[in-house]
Amino acid sequence: MNISITRTTCPKEKPDSSTLGFGKIFTDHMFMMDYNVDKGWYNARIIPFANISIHPASTVLHYGSEIFEGLKAYRRADGTVQLFRPMENIRRMNNSAERLCLPQIPEEDALEALTTFVEFEQDWTPSANGTSLYLRPFLYGNDETLGVHAVHNATFVIIASPVGSYYKEGINPVKIMIEDQDVRAVRGGTGYAKCGGNYAASNRAGKRAEEQGYSQVLWLDGVERKYIEEVGAMNVMFKIAGEIVTPMLSGSILPGITRKSCIEVLKNEGYTVHERLLSIDELKEAMENGTLEEAWGCGTAAVVSPIGELFYQGVHYPVNNGQIGEITQHLYDTLTGIQWGRVEDTYGWTMPLKK
Ligand code: PLP
Ligand code: COI
Repeated sequence: MNISITRTTCPKEKPDSSTLGFGKIFTDHMFMMDYNVDKGWYNARIIPFANISIHPASTVLHYGSEIFEGLKAYRRADGTVQLFRPMENIRRMNNSAERLCLPQIPEEDALEALTTFVEFEQDWTPSANGTSLYLRPFLYGNDETLGVHAVHNATFVIIASPVGSYYKEGINPVKIMIEDQDVRAVRGGTGYAKCGGNYAASNRAGKRAEEQGYSQVLWLDGVERKYIEEVGAMNVMFKIAGEIVTPMLSGSILPGITRKSCIEVLKNEGYTVHERLLSIDELKEAMENGTLEEAWGCGTAAVVSPIGELFYQGVHYPVNNGQIGEITQHLYDTLTGIQWGRVEDTYGWTMPLKK
């Protein structure tokens, strides 16, 4: 793939890496590439970071034809930068594209776009503890017509943002509200795809939770509101009476790469992980009788995030006395260790980038 490069004429000052939040600061450049049904993907380019001009009838503005990914570049102690399982994100992006009738990108081209862009912007990868360069590839339908149909034109973009922790709590336990009114997704819908519309539909419940002091909501299934699904921006895992359990991938939850990695680490170390249906009744009983030992969320932005309190139908349930549990801490140490290069990567998950 030929990627043209136009450098910015006014590079920005790099931020102080101790004050980074999440997704507020962007690097100097972005990657863009266009698609037309007759031409395929064309005009791959790295250009100065700038607003995107868009036709007022563009498909994405009216019908929400948009998918995205989230992954990070990590700076190792030796100064080099590496990605974590980028092919997993590329494959998931193509699955999301298939669901929304957006064009897929050949895997090798998507990887070349990503690595070329991150190598170009790598000086923006912060080095303070727990910081990284968050990468946000996104792809949207861009036909200039109001008809509803699979698109003929699309745009793929990658932007990058130096970030600290996603939650203000950092690694400290977060409080999560179990949502029993709105639902996020149903089987047969777009739950397994990482599309903007899923997040738009989540906002009302998320806002209610935040107003009551909770970080995010834990979704129940869209049909019976009975089975645990996932949290707003992460998958969820529990340790109940010694059993590690996480909702199985049913089509309505996002197949998280952090979830998959946690399961692989645990299984590799001899733990049994049950991917199964977990009902709210079972969880409620475990919260009431004290057998819920640990709860944690896992996601790229949130990393491994202990859940210190669950709120359901007017009752506050502390989890592990609001403390981080042993398995949660172990997963956090192992994954962040591999991601930042502090722990040997025996899984082959990291991809070093050229200096
Ligand atoms: N579930 C939702 C709804 C998410 O937004 C995310 C974040 O990407 C995840 C789960 C975790 O996925 P991953 O571990 O691939 O980041
Ligand atoms: C991520 O973890 O990468 C996400 O996409 C979560 C997000 C919606 C901020």
